[in-house]
Amino acid sequence: MTFSHSHLLGIEPLTPSDITAILDLADQYVELNRRDVKHSNVLAGLTQVNMFFENSTRTQASFELAGKRLGADVMNMAMQASSIKKGETLIDTAMTLNAMHPDLLVVRHPHSGAVDLLAQKVNCAVLNAGDGRHEHPTQALLDALTIRRAKGRLHRLSIAICGDIAHSRVARSNIMLLGKMENRIRLIGPPTLMPSEIGAFGVEVYDDMAEGLNDVDVVMMLRLQKERMDGGFIPSEREYYHRYGLDALKLNHAKNDAIVMHPGPMNRGVEIDGEIADDINRSVIQEQVEMGVAVRMAAMELLARNRRAKSPEVMA
Ligand code: NCD
Repeated sequence: MTFSHSHLLGIEPLTPSDITAILDLADQYVELNRRDVKHSNVLAGLTQVNMFFENSTRTQASFELAGKRLGADVMNMAMQASSIKKGETLIDTAMTLNAMHPDLLVVRHPHSGAVDLLAQKVNCAVLNAGDGRHEHPTQALLDALTIRRAKGRLHRLSIAICGDIAHSRVARSNIMLLGKMENRIRLIGPPTLMPSEIGAFGVEVYDDMAEGLNDVDVVMMLRLQKERMDGGFIPSEREYYHRYGLDALKLNHAKNDAIVMHPGPMNRGVEIDGEIADDINRSVIQEQVEMGVAVRMAAMELLARNRRAKSPEVMA
């Protein structure tokens, strides 16, 4: 086991062997989570605080369940209702929390870089649960685990990431992870939804679904992030669905055994046809949710181990 990081802030600093270490441990947690008694005590005695400054259902629930299954004391801070509303800064909130001695801090924030900043101010392990358009590392890891289990490997696959790339931290983290594991990545979407720095990513770019999906192993759809748009990025949702929404006809261009993914929440009839999303022969969307809990358990266990190694008296 080589994972030596103190925080999980993004995919960027991880090596392929870090990624494999997390996925291998997560595989074991998939087994535990399928048993009647889903409990381990590897985080017993530790305090996990979830601070979500942006609405989230599945990611917060997933982190909460992951911590509870590992025996941690888990607290959810309702950040919308907190002192932030009263004008307190992010750092003040973090320092206040820090004084309560949490061991693991799970943070989602609407601003890119906010979670990194926070990690510099506290002395616990910080996990990024999504910061602005920057990174969402546990999402990329759960996607990787889903792909590895469905395809039997996580290298030399042809993977299409489709839709609203520009606003997507899921896309950024996935491009980095899948690139590090030596896959071929295609981005498909309208030019208005492609990030300007796309040239630096080492990917192929398409604005036509039929062309871009040709012979791919994995089709990863993204949500149209309406809340992050402030202008005319798309002509209309109907037109968008017509050109970029995944339906049976477009999916026919991919390999016969290609899998369909979506991080959720889905806009059915906007980026994906509801029937495709529910087709258990093609769609692995429910598996992604299942893998999410296992990957978060693995990441938290590895971070807790490193903390224990650094300050044995704290964790005795
Ligand atoms: C993603 C997110 O929040 O970045 N969702 C998630 O983690 N479940 C993707 C999205 O919001 O579209």
